[in-house]
Amino acid sequence: MKATAHAHPNIALIKYWGKRDQKLFLPHTPSLSMTLSSLTAVTTAEFSASLAADTVMLDGRPVEGAALERFSAHLDRIRALAGISLRARVVSANDFPTAAGLASSAAGGAALTAALCRAAGLDLSPHEMSALARRFSGSACRSVEGGFCQWNRGERTDGSDSFAVQVFPAGHWPELRMVVTVVSAAQKEVSSRAGMQHSVETSPFFEAWVRQVDADLAEALSALERRDLRALGSIAETNACRMHAVALGAHPPVLYMKPVTLDVISRVHALRAQGIEAWFTLDAGPNPVVLCLAADAPRVAAALEEIPGVQKTVTAGPGEGVTQSEKHLF
Ligand code: DP6
Repeated sequence: MKATAHAHPNIALIKYWGKRDQKLFLPHTPSLSMTLSSLTAVTTAEFSASLAADTVMLDGRPVEGAALERFSAHLDRIRALAGISLRARVVSANDFPTAAGLASSAAGGAALTAALCRAAGLDLSPHEMSALARRFSGSACRSVEGGFCQWNRGERTDGSDSFAVQVFPAGHWPELRMVVTVVSAAQKEVSSRAGMQHSVETSPFFEAWVRQVDADLAEALSALERRDLRALGSIAETNACRMHAVALGAHPPVLYMKPVTLDVISRVHALRAQGIEAWFTLDAGPNPVVLCLAADAPRVAAALEEIPGVQKTVTAGPGEGVTQSEKHLF
C-alpha cells in the first residue's frame, strides 16, 4: 500500500479565478493550461496499520495545523472511495519554490492524488482522478494529464462533470516554450485561494470576467489548434491582465506584481518590438511566465536574466501528465 507519483506544474493560458462552490472547488469559468516538461513534484504515500495519525512532510518539513487538515481531508476522500480507514504517511518534494506563483499546488496536488489512489488500490480514469485532484487544489486537476488541458467548468452541483480534459497532447506543439522567470521565491502574501475569493466577493469587475472568459477560451483554443503563437500569446497576455484587473478591483485591492514583474513585462514588450515573438502570462504571484518558440527561448531567457532582480529562468516545453515510479522517497 505504498506508491510514488511524479507530476509537473501547469501554467494557465486562460486563467481560473473564482469559485462558484468553495467546498467542492467548482470554478465559475473554464480554463486552459499547458503542463510543463520540467519542475517536478514527487510524492510517496503509504497507508499502514502501524500509523496512529496521518503525517505529511513537504520539502523536508513536517506539515502541521490547518495545512495538515487540508491533507487529511484529501486522504479522507481517498479512504472513503477505497473503503479503508488506515492512516497514511506522505512525503512530498518539489524541485522548485512552493507557493510563489509557480503552480506548486497544482503539481503537488496531482502527484499526491495519483500516489494516494495507487497506494489505496484505486484504479481511476484520468478524468475521475482529475476531479479528485481538483478537491485538493483547483488547478491540480489540469496537471493529471500532459500537453494542453481544458478544465471544464461543469454544470452539476456535485462537481462530477468539473474536471480537466486533454485537448492537445504534448506532441501537438513540441516547439512551444514557457520561460518561467523567478523574481521572488518567497511565499506570496495573499494566496490564490484567498485572492480569488476576495475578488468574487468584492470586485465589481468579477461579473465582467465571467462574461468574458468563454470568448477568451475560444480564441486561445483556435490559436492553439493552428499553432499560431502570436494569436495565442496575445490572448494569454490579455486574459492574464484581465485576471489581475479583477484582483486590483477588489476592496481592498490585491496586487501580486512587484516592480521587477513590470520590468520583465516591459522587456517582453521590447523583445516584441525587436521582432521576437514573446508574450507573458502571470499567475497570482510576482513571477511572469513568457511564451515563445524553442528557437527564441535562449535569447528570451538571456534578455530576462539581465534584468536586476531576476533570480533565474527555467525553460520548459509541453510535458507529460502524472507518472508512477518505483523509486520511493522513504
Ligand atoms: C492564478 O488552484 O492555487 O494560478 O483552487 O484555491 O487551490 P485553489 O487555487 P489554485 O489557483 C490557481 C489560480 C491561478 C490561475 C490558474 O492556474 O488557472
